[in-house]
Amino acid sequence: FEVTWDAAAAEKGGWSSFMAKEVSEEPEAVANTLRGRIQDGAVVIPELADLDDLFTGIDRIIIIACGTASYAGQVGAYALEQWTRLPVHVELAHEFRYRDPVIDERSLVVSISQSGETMDTLMAVKYAAERGARTLSICNTQGATIPRESDAVVYTHAGPEVAVASTKAFVAQITAIYLLALHIGRVRGVLSPVEAAEHVRELEAVPGKIKRILDTEQEHTTQLAHWMADTRSVLFLGRHVGFPIALEGALKLKEISYIHAEGFAAGELKHGPIALIEAGQPVFVLVPSPRESSLLHDKVVSNIQEIRARGARVIVIAEEGDAAVLPFADEVLRIPLAGPLFEPLLAVVPLHIFAMGLATAKGLDVDQPRNLAKSVTVE
Ligand code: G6P
Repeated sequence: FEVTWDAAAAEKGGWSSFMAKEVSEEPEAVANTLRGRIQDGAVVIPELADLDDLFTGIDRIIIIACGTASYAGQVGAYALEQWTRLPVHVELAHEFRYRDPVIDERSLVVSISQSGETMDTLMAVKYAAERGARTLSICNTQGATIPRESDAVVYTHAGPEVAVASTKAFVAQITAIYLLALHIGRVRGVLSPVEAAEHVRELEAVPGKIKRILDTEQEHTTQLAHWMADTRSVLFLGRHVGFPIALEGALKLKEISYIHAEGFAAGELKHGPIALIEAGQPVFVLVPSPRESSLLHDKVVSNIQEIRARGARVIVIAEEGDAAVLPFADEVLRIPLAGPLFEPLLAVVPLHIFAMGLATAKGLDVDQPRNLAKSVTVE
């Protein structure tokens, strides 16, 4: 008599893959990253207590990261700039030190890394520190090398991420940068307590909203992915904070389904990418809410009309109730209402589900894509 025990299956807790499990954990990844860091509507980050001088004596912020973490950084830059009024620059870690960047002791270099071991990011952090910059790491792995090499760390509490393609860590990274941005905004006196509390409320609502997307859109999105299993190329368009989400949607698809995918800033369409549009070309379009800026919303809707007129198959991600997109969309995936800066935390969820659904439909191993490693410890 022998008991067979599949340790890997047990760890997946009944899910078909680690990625499926980790996408389902996106609400908790955000909630756990917020936990213990909000008191009476104010952001209080215990790790940053007594470190105010890290944020008062600076005149710029530079974010460095690779892969998915760099897109979290791009999203975070919008909030950092808006809430701290400091110039923020986002750079791929492996490009950073090869161009003699303008950094000194008045620069705060924020690195983002799930593993905390990515060599490109580590070398960029060391380079920044040698040039006198202050360094802060956003990391998901307690005691990893990058946080140890940094002046300060804000941990994401997404829990261990096993699938090579990063999902729950991504939403946790955005959450952590937003907390950091609110903290710096308060320390520097840019944000009032009332303004900060409003953003905190939005953040606290995110886990429930992600859960709603998982409950209501997962089946439709997975079905869509199955219908598109033979697709050879997918384009993603976004604007403002939707732009880095378009890049993330494309990266996820490349990583696990090996399909050619590209993300573009929607405004750039007319400067080149529109030439790619031909009959049947699938294009995901992230539509910003019309409530905050009807200008931005209407520009993206007119982009949709332009590509639709050229035969594109348009899959729209838009907030619940936005009817303006309906006449021009082949498929509509809905996200709950949120402030503009909080939409990325929602809009990315259907894109993660879509990439996973497509790779699964192609019979691929979504956890262990070819040629990729979870943590790249060489330069
Ligand atoms: C590798 C992984 C990516 C990840 C990137 C950065 O390339 O395959 O999924 O986004 O590294 O990893 P990090 O651990 O630094 O966030």
